Amino acid sequence: MAKGKKMKPVFVCSSCGQVSPRWEGRCPGCLKWNTLVEEAPAQRVAAPGAPLDAVPLTEVDETALKRLSTGISELDRVLGGGFISGGVVLLGGDPGIGKSTIVLQALGSLASRGLTTLYVTGEESPSQVRMRGQRLGAVSPELLVAAETDAARVADALMKRSFALCAVDSIQTMQRADMSSAPGSVAQIRECGALLVAAAKARGIPLIMVGHVTKEGAIAGPKVLEHMVDTVLYFEGEGGQPFRVIRAVKNRFGPISEIGVFEMTGRGLAVVDDPSRLFLTERDTQVSGSAVVACLEGTRPLLVEIQALVSPSSLAVPRRVAVGVELNRLNVLAAVIERRAGLNLAGYDLFLKAAGGIRVDGPGVDLGVAAAICSALLKRPVGEGTVLIGEVALSGEVRPVARTELRVKEAARLGFKRAVIPRAGLEEARRVRGVEIVAVATLADAVEELF
Ligand code: TYD
Ligand code: MG
Repeated sequence: MAKGKKMKPVFVCSSCGQVSPRWEGRCPGCLKWNTLVEEAPAQRVAAPGAPLDAVPLTEVDETALKRLSTGISELDRVLGGGFISGGVVLLGGDPGIGKSTIVLQALGSLASRGLTTLYVTGEESPSQVRMRGQRLGAVSPELLVAAETDAARVADALMKRSFALCAVDSIQTMQRADMSSAPGSVAQIRECGALLVAAAKARGIPLIMVGHVTKEGAIAGPKVLEHMVDTVLYFEGEGGQPFRVIRAVKNRFGPISEIGVFEMTGRGLAVVDDPSRLFLTERDTQVSGSAVVACLEGTRPLLVEIQALVSPSSLAVPRRVAVGVELNRLNVLAAVIERRAGLNLAGYDLFLKAAGGIRVDGPGVDLGVAAAICSALLKRPVGEGTVLIGEVALSGEVRPVARTELRVKEAARLGFKRAVIPRAGLEEARRVRGVEIVAVATLADAVEELF
């Protein structure tokens, strides 16, 4: 840069991190409005003299990933088996969902095994943390707590002393004293994140950064934060319900399909060993508009009740509302029901809900969702002890899904007596004892069979 020439400020999108030389009302990257904020320009450094050190991949040492189990089985499961040394985890979720709780439980669990852990709190005082820790049984001399918001001091602490696990709660409260922008601003979050990640990586310390989420449900701060870390976990749950699900949306060290299921109790988050049972409790099987699906969460089958309500609409464009199920799936299935099963849904409001506050996904739930809607429309119950498995094609065909046998087995374990499945899965499903298998070729077949 020419001497004396003043560095121009840059504008950074608070949503996607796109950099723009001038302010614009709409981010050229993600097309969101009013997201560009001014930021001091980054100092450019000259390239150092030493050449790039590239080695053949064959000569790189293989190191088996060592996992640090937290002792909290459902947390280990979403992490892919436990924390990795130097692995950085971003944990997002709504306020009050239990982020601080699970983090403190993980730190406490390791500390109780004699491993030193560090909890950096930018939101609560150490005495508040202690009070919470006492409830959780996490108070231990090996669990250190620091009320600190200066990211440089935290990074420094990591460089000077080794910890089995460090948690920063939350990344939005962190700041760098050498930066003028306010804590929580895009620049602060990004720079503090980078500083902490670098320290954790340099010292091989697993790090959890707690992140708040915005109204839209994304982790507040630039997207770059998600790129910087190895694992991104989201806490899900519904207000008023004690169930909590931790889901991985990114994991460099494990699968992202596994979920961790917890229940919030008076003594913190308790692991739920049998999630299917949880999402099926207190069900009245004789009402219409209810169907049980068997979805697959990672390697684990999960039975969930789907509820549908169909009521005459007074609106020109009837309402379609889905909670815990993708709205697109509802719309597509509604169209298939109309065209291929010959049931008329026009003029009806349609509401759909996965019970227990869980989110179900994957094509395997199609048949059950369609059955719940048809059951509501026809005012006839699906029938006791019936589980539905299968993808519904636009043609109305019921297509096979992965691991039918596993899903039917889970249903059998929970006392289900009848499984409606795609014809192609018949042989597989027949291996399960004690369940009547009903194989269907089309949605119309299924409707006929059930109602
Ligand atoms: P918290 O972990 O503070 O949420 P976050 O850090 O995500 O904002 O969770 C707080 C909620 O959990 C609060 O509503 C109280 C409840 N809670 C329990 O029910 N039992 C407990 O043992 C603890 C510690 C919290
Ligand atoms: Mg908190």
